[in-house]
Amino acid sequence: MTHEQAPIDTTRMSIPKKIAARAAELREQLHRHAYQYYVLDDPLIPDAEYDRMMRELQALEAEYPALRTPDSPTQRVGGESLDAFEQVIHRVPMLSLDNALDEEEFRHFDRRVRERLKYDGPIDYTAEPKLDGLAINLRYQDGVLVQAGTRGDGVHGENVTANVRTIAAIPLRLFGEGYPDLLEVRGEIFMPRQGFEALNERVLKAGGKPFANPRNAAAGSLRQLDPKITARRPLSFYAYGWGEMSVERLADGYRDSLRHLASWGVPVSSEMRAVPGVDACLAYFADIGARRGALPYEIDGVVVKVDSLDEQERLGFVSRAPRWAIAWKFPPREELTIVEAVEFQVGRTGAVTPVARLKPVEVGGVTVSNATLHNIGEVWRKDVRAGDTVFVRRAGDVIPEIVRVVLDRRPPDARPVELPRYCPVCGSDVILPEGEAIARCTGGLYCPAQRKEALIHFASRKAMDIDGLGEKLVDQLVEKGLARNPADLYRLTLEQLIGLERMGGKSARNLLAALERSKSTTLERFLYALGIREVGEATAKGLARRFGSLEAIEQADEEALQQTPDIGPIVAAHIAGFFRQQHNREIIQRLTDEAGIHWPDVEKPDADNLPLVGKTFVITGKLSQPRDHFKTLLEAAGAKVSGSVSKKTDYLLAGEDAGSKLVKAQTLGVTIISEAELPALLGDR
Ligand code: IVH
Repeated sequence: MTHEQAPIDTTRMSIPKKIAARAAELREQLHRHAYQYYVLDDPLIPDAEYDRMMRELQALEAEYPALRTPDSPTQRVGGESLDAFEQVIHRVPMLSLDNALDEEEFRHFDRRVRERLKYDGPIDYTAEPKLDGLAINLRYQDGVLVQAGTRGDGVHGENVTANVRTIAAIPLRLFGEGYPDLLEVRGEIFMPRQGFEALNERVLKAGGKPFANPRNAAAGSLRQLDPKITARRPLSFYAYGWGEMSVERLADGYRDSLRHLASWGVPVSSEMRAVPGVDACLAYFADIGARRGALPYEIDGVVVKVDSLDEQERLGFVSRAPRWAIAWKFPPREELTIVEAVEFQVGRTGAVTPVARLKPVEVGGVTVSNATLHNIGEVWRKDVRAGDTVFVRRAGDVIPEIVRVVLDRRPPDARPVELPRYCPVCGSDVILPEGEAIARCTGGLYCPAQRKEALIHFASRKAMDIDGLGEKLVDQLVEKGLARNPADLYRLTLEQLIGLERMGGKSARNLLAALERSKSTTLERFLYALGIREVGEATAKGLARRFGSLEAIEQADEEALQQTPDIGPIVAAHIAGFFRQQHNREIIQRLTDEAGIHWPDVEKPDADNLPLVGKTFVITGKLSQPRDHFKTLLEAAGAKVSGSVSKKTDYLLAGEDAGSKLVKAQTLGVTIISEAELPALLGDR
């Protein structure tokens, strides 16, 4: 069966024969030349000639859109954006590999293979580089790429066909003849080193965060919902296997099967070799290890496979990995360098994290100049100090980390790292409550690093409920300098708002009205809106009930705070730390005095007088609000809320469509109440 010409289909009937033939010819030529260029690295025509043919085909397709088939080379530029990826099912599961981490483990693999095959001579193995990218399944129907799916859990992957079509090395249509009607090609999508470096340079120039390694870059590029973005990423592909096929086999051995794939235009690694027996494997491993840095792509080891498919069948699988293959990994890359400084960064949520600034060093082909230290405890545990010589590793090739300090080389004046007392961004106190790993800036309302997060939280539904003030708007307000803290929101004017993107007169007026409405609130909502670390709705409610007024909470010390239900030493430290900051208190004062945020007095109930102390509730069925809302209300009134109905249950709060819990409560004689009956029990008027 040959596929030199596109099959005629009825949608093309209105296209003049000559035009259809010319389009088919151009498609064919462009496929051939792309293969010569991207796969064989051996172009036969000048780039300009290729571009000319591409433009001619684009022009024909523009005039006769029915010519624009999914396998047309013009489709490499990327089509429509998706909202989400659909699922693909791999009928032949995509497996993973067992690892060998050193020679001994590799020899163990070989021994097991020989034992199982009851054969004592050298096994005919095939070795290839283990590419550091992500696995893909390419489904060809009658030679045309119809679907590309990621590995996912091995059976359910993501349909990334539109993105994969943009990868020039992947044939949209197979060449030659003899391929099965249905052929699933499996292999690795990866980003060659050069392309990776160029991409990171681009990202850095645009002010973005660079990818940690080529694998992340490849995965990130493939998982773009907009194929046009993938199209701009320098991705490539090598095949290392197959999945579902309409034939039993392509050949008797693995290498020969891959040679068939190669003859149809599928890229196969030029480093694939026959390696008979362990010694040949060891030599291959050493050789490719020595050339690793010079290869145009990142590899993290070698994959060794039993070549004979009969033998593969006899060996079979254990759970998710075949017994006939092994990934022999290179040892993690470690290099020595010097810590120039340990600095602290403040995250969006106020986490103060140490980062080691390193003398730049190349680790496994990537220049490393920073290493995260996660938290201050780790700095102390590893005893990393400025001036130290350290081992840096890119393990699993994620973010570089400091493995250990070379103490012999420590300069005599190297001082232990101290947690800064004040936030390096805003100058507020930094606290590290006992038992916590992460130190935090307490200037939540004021700190520029936390500005956006603070505003988004303040406006959110369960906080001040400022309708229309979402993340995008907060971004704009902060970037234009119109809001640095929540109090600034109440100074916004109609003119300022109308000047913003996507903000017409109507939405601006609506927002101002929502801000106005939000001024009338409750103490617990206001407390929650302040975004104090660990103070969720329930804690805010507890505080409001226990202290009755904002002033009382501001003045409470940690011990007094701990008298509130659910507040232990850590939460108390966060609350007290927050109110100690003059900056925060000033903003709170502006919110109440200047903006006029107010709330009704809170009746301060005596703890023993809570109406539902000692009562156990279970909540079931559909209610007007999420269950957590009712749980918070009940707990604040002293009740316990349990997940299942038992003899100890006092009340079942049942909404619509209540099921088995309702039946059980009825059998046990538990009092059943509806949402409407709740206020009376809570003692609300
Ligand atoms: S064979 C049934 N060969 O490594 C065996 N995998 O750790 C299926 N990989 O998911 C895999 N290079 O993404 C094979 N030459 C190679 C490979 C390779 C990279 C990846 C692949 C697989 C993972 C397993």
